[in-house]
Amino acid sequence: EVVRLWSGRSQMELMLKKYLNIKDVIIVPGNVDNDTNTSMLLSQEAAKYLESILLNEHIIAVTGGSTIASISHAMTESSRWKDLLFIAARGGVGKDVRLQANTIASLFASKMNGSYRTLYIPDRLSEEAYMTMKKEPFIQEMMDLYERTNIIIHGIGDALEMAKRRNSSDEEIELLRSRGAVSESFGYYFNNQGEAVHHIRTIGVQLNQLQHIEHLLAVAGGAKKANALISYFKQAPLQTVLVTDEGAANEMMKVI
Ligand code: G3H
Repeated sequence: EVVRLWSGRSQMELMLKKYLNIKDVIIVPGNVDNDTNTSMLLSQEAAKYLESILLNEHIIAVTGGSTIASISHAMTESSRWKDLLFIAARGGVGKDVRLQANTIASLFASKMNGSYRTLYIPDRLSEEAYMTMKKEPFIQEMMDLYERTNIIIHGIGDALEMAKRRNSSDEEIELLRSRGAVSESFGYYFNNQGEAVHHIRTIGVQLNQLQHIEHLLAVAGGAKKANALISYFKQAPLQTVLVTDEGAANEMMKVI
């Protein structure tokens, strides 16, 4: 039974990798929507994959969210890592400091004996603030680090969930609905064709910078996120590796 289930999963991994057109898909058993054990497996599997690609002196950018936060806890402490630098891929999102990229970068750094750099600026900026901020030397330094980033670990969210988390205005939510936003990542909202239909004006990794990052590790599970995943992967860079669960995978398989 175990072998059959396992081979069923690896079959799905191959099919989804082909369908989503990315480097690899890793599926853990269960559904994070209703099983905390699956959340643990998801972060362990992501941590294992990260440890397999990590090299000393790597620069690793992390986004926010509960999924990415839990990966930091699943990493194995080891003195073999030297000079790892964890950086926040973006400013703060929502009110919960525990889910912010800044906090997560510091968690990874303390676990992995590395250092970290944060972006203590609001996630969303006015046009004026954005133009001024961009000229600040500490922002320039972060932008330079994004150009040299080796690995990005990121979550993928449901568009409206993320808008709620960001306390978006009714107008913005209405705009997202009218433009058919399904998924969100890096502050970009995508429709079911993978077209960016809205973007939060923010300092952080920009979509066009993803193309030349060597390793992109996307981690997201749960049947509820299946549509968001399909939407995001309509445009995701080919070098992305997705760690997900059966809950999301089974739902995605229905549309293949
Ligand atoms: O960008 C998407 C979010 O980071 C996903 O957040 O892992 O808490 O669902 P989550």
